[in-house]
Amino acid sequence: MNILVIGSGGRENAFAWKLKQSPKTTQLFIAPGNAGTTDFGINAPIDPTDFKELKKFCIETNIELIIVGPEQPLVEGIVDFFKNDNALNDIMIVGPNKAGAQLEGSKVFAKKFMEKYDIPTAKSFHVDATTIKEGVAFLKSMNAPYVLKADGLAAGKGVLIIDSFEEAEKELNEMLDGKFGEASTKVVIEEFLSGIEVSVFVLTDGKNYKILPEAKDYKRISDGDKGLNTGGMGAVSPVPFANSKFMQKVEEYIIKPTLTGLIQESIDYKGFIFLGLINVDGEPFVIEYNARMGDPETECVFPRIKTDFVDLMTACATTTLDSIELEIDERTAVTVVLVSDGYPESYSKGKIIEGLNAVSDCILFHAGTSIDIESEKIKTSGGRVLAVTALGETIEIARKKAYENVKKITFEGVNFRNDIGMDLIALNK
Ligand code: AMP
Ligand code: GLY
Repeated sequence: MNILVIGSGGRENAFAWKLKQSPKTTQLFIAPGNAGTTDFGINAPIDPTDFKELKKFCIETNIELIIVGPEQPLVEGIVDFFKNDNALNDIMIVGPNKAGAQLEGSKVFAKKFMEKYDIPTAKSFHVDATTIKEGVAFLKSMNAPYVLKADGLAAGKGVLIIDSFEEAEKELNEMLDGKFGEASTKVVIEEFLSGIEVSVFVLTDGKNYKILPEAKDYKRISDGDKGLNTGGMGAVSPVPFANSKFMQKVEEYIIKPTLTGLIQESIDYKGFIFLGLINVDGEPFVIEYNARMGDPETECVFPRIKTDFVDLMTACATTTLDSIELEIDERTAVTVVLVSDGYPESYSKGKIIEGLNAVSDCILFHAGTSIDIESEKIKTSGGRVLAVTALGETIEIARKKAYENVKKITFEGVNFRNDIGMDLIALNK
């Protein structure tokens, strides 16, 4: 089977790595991919939101299955584009259509959906320029800290958590005034929930579903969960507090009503649902939905899935997930992300990466990397550069292996967190 993975991050590198292991993969392409994805397939330099170019490419290379990694093309309707075109509509696609991707693309849509289907989430109120007064009154009725969320996609920057009421009121006005452009013409004001977060992944074909291994993401830039929010500095899977009792609640109170809700809204959702959850005294609440896999969670979760990935993806696209047995590696995976100095703010690029060949007994996923044309060496080209995943019988063993390898890799300005998994080890004691 000829397969196209859309995207260029560590997540898409993990998809390519997994798909390449299947004997059913004939040719694998990644659009646009990174320096690491060339180990598994051929990179096609096409922007993930350039649907016309993707169409041309799929016809030329006889693509039979597409997996969409990032949210932007999903929210812009890539699935609808392919399904509505007679030349393309027999290509299988894993990813929700535009209506389904609204779970991530519009926080107002997601909150209304959760309220309608009685899915546990923080209390909220949504505002636009015509309802600022009511919004401020709602803010006043809440306790600090105050949570403000831009409705639309804002490159991971659209959530503000603010300590003072005055500051929150000012930010609310600025957001509605265009602080995040189109994305903040509507704003969700939310109750602050206190607890520990976990990412849960569901693969659904619109009828059946599989719960994939969960993971804990480390979002802040510095050790001890300090500093700015990032796309993710590391991950651990499984998560000890997401025990069977907790996961049963997640399935009953969150996953089942979410899937029932999608069916009742006539949304034929085929793809991943990423539940950003928070554990409040043993009870799961939804912080956010995403219409895709997480990054770096994918690099941590996929190495634990033993099932043939072409089988899994085609079953998702053809509504036969009930025929698949999900086989999971019981070991713990620890993923550490290496980033460029300055990330998540401005950072330098083009730094030559050394030590990649010294890595052993772990899996190396590339994210922001490219090939330096002059030296033919691999260089940095993004904020998040590489993800190193190691598996072990315990978190301690997996951590040790991951960090031994992280330390073999060098580039000017390399930065990573030293404490991935430490909180979970402490919780276990
Ligand atoms: P999001 O972009 O929705 O994932 O939000 C970014 C981060 O903000 C989340 O991972 C949480 O750490 C935090 N957050 C969002 N909503 C809430 C909330 N209602 N209560 C507490 N923390 C929140
Ligand atoms: N790691 C969080 C995300 O992918 O959104």
